Amino acid sequence: MSAARPPEIEPLHPTIGARVHGVNLATIEPAEFELVAKAFWIHGVLVFKGQDLQPEDQLRFSRMFGPLQKRTSYAREKERFASDEIADISNIGPDGQLLKPDDRQRAMNLGDRLWHTDGTFQQIPSMLSLLYATEVAPEGGNTEFADMRAAYGALDEQRKRDFEELVITHSIYRSREQVGFTESQFNDHIAALRPPANQVMVRVHEQTGRRSLYLASHASHIVGQDVERSRALIQELIAFATQPRFVYAHRWDAGDLVMWDNRCTMHRARPFDDQRHRRVMQRTTSIDSANSVDKALRAGRKLRTA
Ligand code: OGA
Ligand code: MN
Repeated sequence: MSAARPPEIEPLHPTIGARVHGVNLATIEPAEFELVAKAFWIHGVLVFKGQDLQPEDQLRFSRMFGPLQKRTSYAREKERFASDEIADISNIGPDGQLLKPDDRQRAMNLGDRLWHTDGTFQQIPSMLSLLYATEVAPEGGNTEFADMRAAYGALDEQRKRDFEELVITHSIYRSREQVGFTESQFNDHIAALRPPANQVMVRVHEQTGRRSLYLASHASHIVGQDVERSRALIQELIAFATQPRFVYAHRWDAGDLVMWDNRCTMHRARPFDDQRHRRVMQRTTSIDSANSVDKALRAGRKLRTA
């Protein structure tokens, strides 16, 4: 290890989130990586401050956790990054200027303000997300993270039993309709690109064995149940799981890299004045090894898949 002292881990909340001191992600080595990964499985969210990363540095660190997911461009006409494994999370257009009020990408960005977990609408969901900030808004624009393990743990025992076998159908259309997209705007191209996907309602974390609720704004309905009733239950559980006691709010500085484990957390972007301020971030995302229903069935769990 090149660092004179091992990285220090400072918890930021009683159950979720920790800041890592003493690691330069541009030069991180395997021994440091082991310590970082161990802390990550425990805390669910890690914050690194004062980083100076080129896209290839972020890619290199992200790949230490496994294969990356390719970005899907729904609305950007031109990409800022050469690598298709980096997603542009910004309010800046191809001309380098703020996205105009009627820009389609600006409307898509609104979806990130709903509580969600990345990529649950994909057959194989996103596993880890790493978001690096180069420009931040002077006020607003926090990112909030909810601990879905703690939320699960706070359910009464009967509900834990009731939810154990449930499967939820997720779709990108479900989250985007909540921010005003209509079927006609949400064109066939996206529908074909992103057919709905089923995921377990209760996930078991591979590294820690802990159970968590697996919800998201993309969660549409429970398989085998009435759509409206199951939608009401999903809404209720998202509200329950995102009470302040389960939430860490991150206030960004330029140079922050924040990473989260999509298997056991939810997150959302908070509003800021996007017609006045630039907020420029880039995300790399590692992909899970399989669909969560397939994994659970393979592990011998009984699920209501129909
Ligand atoms: C994301 C996301 C939140 C934010 O990049 O997946 O939801 O605060 N970002 O920008
Ligand atoms: Mn997200």
